[in-house]
Amino acid sequence: MREQVVCKTTDLEPGEMLASYFGKQNVLICRTSDGEFYAFRNQCTHQGAPLDKGMVCGATTEESTPGDYHYCRKGEIIRCPWHGREFDIKNEGRMLANPDKKLPGFKLRIEDDEVIVYK
Ligand code: FES
Repeated sequence: MREQVVCKTTDLEPGEMLASYFGKQNVLICRTSDGEFYAFRNQCTHQGAPLDKGMVCGATTEESTPGDYHYCRKGEIIRCPWHGREFDIKNEGRMLANPDKKLPGFKLRIEDDEVIVYK
């Protein structure tokens, strides 16, 4: 089995993400608002933007109307920096607007204060 420490748990506050490497692959490590960690390929499925340059945000609810936005799921959505596609961190990196598409993910575990990605 191949594994690698990609960062420390203390490198990320809830609602943050950072870029790291697993071998030669650029990986995006995300920490959701509930403190859980996730790892995805750090490349948007659309035109390949580096997702770590985007933001971790929330989604709008169905009650939203033009000019009156209601937010939910703060700290659980990745927004691409180039054209704004949004990916659901807690749902396998699936695109909000098209759940059939998703970010390739990596297995991850925490040992002591180390975040480890493995195959
Ligand atoms: S490259 Fe991410 S939305 Fe276009």
